[in-house]
Amino acid sequence: MPGLTAPSDYSREPPRHPSLIINSKEPFNAEPPRSALISSYVTPVDFFYKRNHGPIPLVDDIDRYYVSIRGLIENPKDLFMKDVRMLPKYNVTATLQCAGNRRTAMSKSRTVRGVGWDISALGNAIWGGVKLADVLELVGIPKYTSVTKSGGKHVEFVSIDKCKEEKGGPYKASIPLSQATNPDADVLLAYEMNGEPLNRDHGYPLRVVVPGVIGARSVKWLDAINIIAEECQGFFMQKDYKMFPPSVNWDNINWDSRRPLMDFPVQCAICSLEDVDMIKPGKVKISGYAVSGGGRGIERVDVSVDGGKNWLEASKYQQTGMQYIADGMNSDKWAWVLFEVIVDVLLNTQIVAKAVDSAANVQPENVETIWNLRGVLNTSWHRVHVRVGHSNM
Ligand code: MTE
Repeated sequence: MPGLTAPSDYSREPPRHPSLIINSKEPFNAEPPRSALISSYVTPVDFFYKRNHGPIPLVDDIDRYYVSIRGLIENPKDLFMKDVRMLPKYNVTATLQCAGNRRTAMSKSRTVRGVGWDISALGNAIWGGVKLADVLELVGIPKYTSVTKSGGKHVEFVSIDKCKEEKGGPYKASIPLSQATNPDADVLLAYEMNGEPLNRDHGYPLRVVVPGVIGARSVKWLDAINIIAEECQGFFMQKDYKMFPPSVNWDNINWDSRRPLMDFPVQCAICSLEDVDMIKPGKVKISGYAVSGGGRGIERVDVSVDGGKNWLEASKYQQTGMQYIADGMNSDKWAWVLFEVIVDVLLNTQIVAKAVDSAANVQPENVETIWNLRGVLNTSWHRVHVRVGHSNM
């Protein structure tokens, strides 16, 4: 690939913030401490989780770098950065969440396979870039197209990183053409994150951002876009990031029986407390994040200080000084809300949070009912245990 190279080892990784919690070093997978997530609505790049499947690619010549657009289209094109910059720029505030977020807690119920994540495999960023719908127009695909004249129905994104799951080949994924060509779906080819050029960890020079969809489809270090008839046959679409029922194990799994995961379900977690924290008896501020997929807003966040018997509604906010209304005109539809509520805690207890989205979807009570062997989409009620005491405070 001109301008972009994929190292085959980990000797040229970028520098990272020392406070990240490293879940695996090679490939580099890390999340911030949970308290960092609630210190700002927009997650600073340093504290944004990093999820990789191979060594981080390097750009050696940005002027020679291009994305090749091919497949079932009439006008194939090599898209250089200068072509990208000529299209209208959009800033979209969107939460990216890994489908494996909260996997460690699922593993405690029954062992699952995959990188162990606490509750911080997500972040909220302002992604700057061009709409994929505008890019596809350059190759002759009009807005709101679900099938091209030559039968293209899916848009495949191919990277250049070397992943062992792909037997040394690149990471790839696809989304339906109808979503890619819908300007309201806000699918971006992003070159900025929080107003700065993307850094290497997050996909420099160009990445896909598919708002409201599990992070796995937001392909970093974009090398090629292919318009194809069937969805991408890559490992991460067909043999991973699918959700199976609790009865499926590694002996009876049939990968073809399930669809690849796309929109993420409603989720929330408490970030102001670790599990287990010692606190003073009295008033305690409980805060965290809540987010749903598919552009659905957050209707409600309920918090309980008695393990789920009684509930209090938390307040929710996005930008300061602006009231948050689920699915409201001024709310960021792809972004999380932060929530907070003051509660009285007098005894050792379990504090619980659950969110309800604008389609009235609610998080499941127990992890057991949604347990799956890959440990994806743990959206069960989030619980933290607190011990109340006066010692060492
Ligand atoms: N793109 C490439 N090329 N390689 C990857 O390993 N990981 C995916 C996605 N895009 C990945 C990728 C996964 S599983 C997630 S959750 C997000 O990137 C994480 O993006 P981030 O590291 O910018 O937070």
